[in-house]
Amino acid sequence: MAHLLSPTGEARAAAARIAELSDRGHHDVALVLGSGWSEVVTGLADPGTAVTIPAADLPGFVVPAAAGHRGTVTSCLVDGVPLLSVAGRTHLYEGRGTGPVVHPAHVAAAVGARALVLTNAAGGLRDDMSVGDLVLIRDHLNLTGRSPLTGPVFVDLVDAYSPRLRAAAADAIGSAETAAAEGTATRPPEGVYAAMPGPQYETPAEIRMLRTLGADLVGMSTVPETIAARGLGLEVVAVSLVTNLAAGVTGQPLDHTEVLAAGAAGSARLTGALRALVPAVARA
Ligand code: HPA
Repeated sequence: MAHLLSPTGEARAAAARIAELSDRGHHDVALVLGSGWSEVVTGLADPGTAVTIPAADLPGFVVPAAAGHRGTVTSCLVDGVPLLSVAGRTHLYEGRGTGPVVHPAHVAAAVGARALVLTNAAGGLRDDMSVGDLVLIRDHLNLTGRSPLTGPVFVDLVDAYSPRLRAAAADAIGSAETAAAEGTATRPPEGVYAAMPGPQYETPAEIRMLRTLGADLVGMSTVPETIAARGLGLEVVAVSLVTNLAAGVTGQPLDHTEVLAAGAAGSARLTGALRALVPAVARA
């Protein structure tokens, strides 16, 4: 795959500092923990392997504005695989431009990761979706009106979400979920993620529009990071936690605390899913 972009100087500086503080010169996989997923970071690491750094102490990271986003970077091993995780992403709606939004993708490339795992909270648009569902992103609609790229950087987005890694991730999450439920296999479904600029939630009319456009999930993140990561030559796998049904589906108002509560309620499950997914992606 062609590398059209190189990691920014700030990302290279952050990677050097991470290597120094963690004593790990290389990370195989990078992970961004979105809204509702931040609690996972404590249970993810092999015991005694985690080194956590406040994001504010590393070049290029800005302190996240949204509640539920911690602002830490952790180097650890997961089933022996060196992982760099970022808890607390910057969103486009913070108004700082795309630079800080895609900084974790640049840092992922700078620490040597081959794969970037993106997690997020999303509204579910499909009738067969329920709060708490995990859905693998198959493709996206970039409705933010923005790109993290400038200039003639013609990044290919066919198979932006690696089919190979998606298959490995589906198997891994399926077995973790099956173990957790002590029952039937629950291989996660796939869906198309529509990225909206936010920070307001959608109107019911916008949700009807998104359905018509082929969206299954709606959120305010992930897409800029995916675009940058593909330009940087990383493979991407992205998982949405359905934290609410999209606007107008239930007739109830949407509330950010509901989004966070859905994550907290499922945090042991999400940890199990990611503990299975990270090594599966690294070894796929
Ligand atoms: N819309 C947009 N972003 C979201 C939603 C939603 O319904 N749920 C979680 N993030």
